[in-house]
Amino acid sequence: MMKCFVLLIFVCVLSCVWSEGLNEEFTWTRINYVWPTQSRGGFYQNSDFLFPGENPQTIEGDELPSNLDYQYENNIPMGANVWKNKLFITVPRRRLGVPSTLNYVDLNGRNRRNVPLTPYPDWKTNLFPSQNYNSTFFSVYRVAVDACDRLWFVDTGLLESPGNNSRIKPVTLYVMDLNNDQIIHSHQFPSSSISAASNFASITVDVTKNNCQNAYAYMPDLAGYGLTVYSLRNDRSWRVTHNYFYLEPHAGEFTIAGHTFQWNDGVFSVELSEIKSDGNRDMYFHSMAGHHMYRVNTRFLKNETLATRSYHGRDFEDLGNRGENSQTSSADIHQESGVMFLGLVNQNALACWNTASSLRDISIVAKNDRTMIYPCDVKVYKDKVYMLTNTMPEFLYGQLNYGEINFRIWSNTIRDAVRNTACEGRSRRY
Ligand SMILES: *[C@@H]1O[C@H](CO)[C@@H](O)[C@H](O)[C@H]1NC(C)=O
Ligand SMILES: *[C@@H]1O[C@H](CO)[C@@H](O)[C@H](O)[C@H]1NC(C)=O
Ligand SMILES: *[C@@H]1O[C@H](CO)[C@@H](O)[C@H](O)[C@H]1NC(C)=O
Repeated sequence: MMKCFVLLIFVCVLSCVWSEGLNEEFTWTRINYVWPTQSRGGFYQNSDFLFPGENPQTIEGDELPSNLDYQYENNIPMGANVWKNKLFITVPRRRLGVPSTLNYVDLNGRNRRNVPLTPYPDWKTNLFPSQNYNSTFFSVYRVAVDACDRLWFVDTGLLESPGNNSRIKPVTLYVMDLNNDQIIHSHQFPSSSISAASNFASITVDVTKNNCQNAYAYMPDLAGYGLTVYSLRNDRSWRVTHNYFYLEPHAGEFTIAGHTFQWNDGVFSVELSEIKSDGNRDMYFHSMAGHHMYRVNTRFLKNETLATRSYHGRDFEDLGNRGENSQTSSADIHQESGVMFLGLVNQNALACWNTASSLRDISIVAKNDRTMIYPCDVKVYKDKVYMLTNTMPEFLYGQLNYGEINFRIWSNTIRDAVRNTACEGRSRRY
């Protein structure tokens, strides 16, 4: 008995100095929005979104059409990212009934449960249907925040109803100035830089603070199995092809939340290292249906001639296999330390990997088969890592219970997240 007790204490001491995991920052049972004052009367009567005892939150200045389509059970958050005190939350239009696709909540707000989303930059830019789709957002998956205080994202322009995708507008890249909430640039992709199957669910921006115009965006195409590159200075985009962008046929089996299914998503997110001695970064990438990690020097992507060569020689490297059940949705790198964070969808976990070490050294930062189902987005902002989990397989193959928490934002400082994992480098530059 005593022995057992001592062992218990020992285990506790051990686990107390292990990674501190992640903290639950925000939770939602269902997604609700901050509605404009004007449309309050008519709109509230037609909808069923308020929680018992909740006072409606409203904003001034916008007006909503009285027939606005809001079906809370079709609002699944897919992307999260941070800029200053804004926590961006995207809700792609995978069904009808999504009133606003690009939104945020106040990261420092007092309320942490069921915080309604505020459309960004405002309601009228997010409404569907719209008079002019050039200046309204239809469907956004994940957003990037760059070193020049800009927000980058692809509007897929696609309404993804099951068995019936319909194109509402062309695939468009937007760049916004976060300091004044203005769209400062947009780019409609020519057919040469996308494919008929293209679906851009993620974007990563390559820029330095002292040269904001010399920016490149890398957009993995998970359904078209390619990579689209955009140069801001030249307002040009091109498409890179390589077999490493495809799914791995033996890595497409998933078992999540009791559902077993096969997915065929290829290259899903790309991550950038710090600038290396040659003046370029390394781009790491992986397929969602995949176990391997790949790397390419961005020198080969930023030069259109090199990027679009039909044969890439040894430009692209296979860094090896990450192991069984290592299928990863989003990942991001903390550039100062070189630590990558990976959302392990088949393990309901966040992992870390110090890019300076072997793939064998991937460690679990946090894992929970009940509360961390489907890590959907992973982002590093300054000295913190953020993860969105959204229980999506239950939405797709089962039935979400909207009386329970389905969506969560987790976070921790980089230092605490990697503490006593194999990711904690010798230099400790956290
Ligand atoms: C939208 O943008 C495209 C491409 O820039 C342009 O051809 C078209 O005329 C624009 N439409 C409207 C309604 O502004
Ligand atoms: C597909 O979606 C479009 C746009 O929402 C709609 O007009 C059309 O009737 C749908 N087709 C089918 C077969 O459901
Ligand atoms: C791109 O690469 C090609 C082939 O190496 C080279 O000739 C060209 O000068 C490069 N272009 C730029 C803008 O660096």
